[in-house]
Amino acid sequence: MRKPIIAGNWKMFKLISESVNTATELKSLVTNTNHCEIVIAPPYTALKSTSDRLEGSNIRVAAQDLSTETKHGAHTGEVCGDMIRDAGCTHVIIGHSERRAMYGDTNAVVNRKIKAALGFNLTPIVCIGETLDERDSGEAEMVVAKQLEESLAELTADDLLRIILAYEPVWAIGTGRTATPDQAQQMHASIRRWISDHIGTGVAESLRILYGGSVKPENIADLMREADIDGALVGGASLEAGSFSRIVNYERS
Ligand code: 13P
Repeated sequence: MRKPIIAGNWKMFKLISESVNTATELKSLVTNTNHCEIVIAPPYTALKSTSDRLEGSNIRVAAQDLSTETKHGAHTGEVCGDMIRDAGCTHVIIGHSERRAMYGDTNAVVNRKIKAALGFNLTPIVCIGETLDERDSGEAEMVVAKQLEESLAELTADDLLRIILAYEPVWAIGTGRTATPDQAQQMHASIRRWISDHIGTGVAESLRILYGGSVKPENIADLMREADIDGALVGGASLEAGSFSRIVNYERS
């Protein structure tokens, strides 16, 4: 049985006070939730105060990225895994499409970041997904398979058991255009098949694959009904505690 995960990616939104306030509100709205794991990813500057506020709660905190570097040193602007742990995080998002498109996070970089995260005992939430052009030209599954092959290079079955994948079709992010449950399910099944063929059936069965891209309180329940969708990575609709808590508690809505 794969326990669902609902994660909120706050991207480059929220000052420290805003992040702590939203987290405080969210905490009270999900105190009785135990059907899924809950993760939020505030900006770096708000990680420590937000995780302090959430101590003892059922909400875990993620960073949105980390350095490929694993030793402290002269790397201006970089933040490494033990600093992220030190700020109270248990998870880290890696390879988000915005980082791939705007900040040079290639599959090779994503691979190094996953290894760095695992080395610091952080749970990587690894993002993959095709662009609209790639989908329209019928290459979506091929593109995602290549992302898996290169991003997960040299990782063992044991490593994979410590990873969460997030399928985020680029054309569905922030556009209001969600993949239909059927489209998402097809890709999730294809990802699971790839893991089964290349890493092992046992790993494929227990690996959690989240869907991301315009998830809202109105469409989460239909997505979660699909066999291979194990949760969601939510952007816009996670910024407000009320709407995010409705997504978290999708079973009740
Ligand atoms: P939206 O939910 O705003 O489409 O963003 C999805 C996303 O990028 C989560 O990482």
